[in-house]
Amino acid sequence: MQSIGVLTAGGDSPGLNAAIRAVGKAALASKGMQVIGFSDGFRGLMENRTIRLDEAGISGILTLGGTLLGTSRDKPHKMLMGDKVLDMTDAMMDNYNKHHLDVLLCLGGGGTHKNAYRLAQKGMNVITIPKTIDNDLSMTDSTLGFDTALSIATEAVDRLHSTAHSHHRIVVVGIMGHNAGWLALGAGIAGGAHVILIPEMPYETTKVADAIRQRLRKGKNFSIVAVAEGAVSKEDADAMQSMLEAINKTEDKEERKAIKSQLKQLKEQQGNNIFSLTKQLEEITGLESRVTILGHLQRGGVPSASDRLFATQLGTACVSLVKKERYGVMAGLNGHRIKAIPLEEVVGKRKVVPLDHSWIKTANEVGISLGA
Ligand code: F6P
Repeated sequence: MQSIGVLTAGGDSPGLNAAIRAVGKAALASKGMQVIGFSDGFRGLMENRTIRLDEAGISGILTLGGTLLGTSRDKPHKMLMGDKVLDMTDAMMDNYNKHHLDVLLCLGGGGTHKNAYRLAQKGMNVITIPKTIDNDLSMTDSTLGFDTALSIATEAVDRLHSTAHSHHRIVVVGIMGHNAGWLALGAGIAGGAHVILIPEMPYETTKVADAIRQRLRKGKNFSIVAVAEGAVSKEDADAMQSMLEAINKTEDKEERKAIKSQLKQLKEQQGNNIFSLTKQLEEITGLESRVTILGHLQRGGVPSASDRLFATQLGTACVSLVKKERYGVMAGLNGHRIKAIPLEEVVGKRKVVPLDHSWIKTANEVGISLGA
């Protein structure tokens, strides 16, 4: 009998339940395998909170958003325990052994992959599934949840057109994606945004305003500006770069601490940039402006057909890997196939939009301004 433990960690995303179901179904079909779920990510494993993933437990969940297991952003080696932050890895190893698990499947994004890798280095057998609406995990062509979030954000951009048009306004729409521009760029192109700002290409406000004014000259008195949450102005990007260089240069501990705190402050302010950008655009162009932040709407609800299909492939691929006892890997998408990628090749990297990516070329070719 092989025993599989499953947990979901990090921000939830559509398609997680479909993946859990696929693991359960494939395991049940392979006689001699059982699956047990842990609640709320690594915390549930540490506290030994389990959920049955038998036939009844996995039934009717294919189309459900979120994760029936619950999730958290807890890290095994830095877990908040009362008022202390402790390394709880050993407690997790104990529970893994108590349940006689052969493997722990961790469904998550960049942070989860790092945590799973840490547990693997401690001797636990782990397999991961790349899940994040941000699509920023390396060594996989796509991540679970991205397709659904892309559709939701695209629909939002679509819908903002009619109100922006009716009121002759600029609507600036904030789209998730952490420090990567995949969602904003994809939804911006698919939804027909006129300007798209992504973290990979620091923007100049004057260039954004120029693009809007150019539209005005053609009689188009409204504009949609899609802004990735990690987008930065050229000014801020240059300031951050100089601070990083200064941190590396100085040998004075106090000075380094002071610059690091300035850098932290600047990064924290980034969340408000969308509001100052909107105000500046209103002032420069004379068009009334509004902000819409899509936020967690993008992570909620029913997964797309494509994500359900992807989740089912990923879940079943994991069970095949367990049968082969192939551990310490991520089940990643490579073309049309699911491939096992060693975790050391995945962790510590972030897949951002390459500047020569075809989506950037496409955006340029249809006249979308990228503000750079
Ligand atoms: O990683 C997914 C994501 O939705 C990011 O796009 C966003 O930056 C972050 O999670 C939000 O996290 P939380 O749900 O903890 O606010």
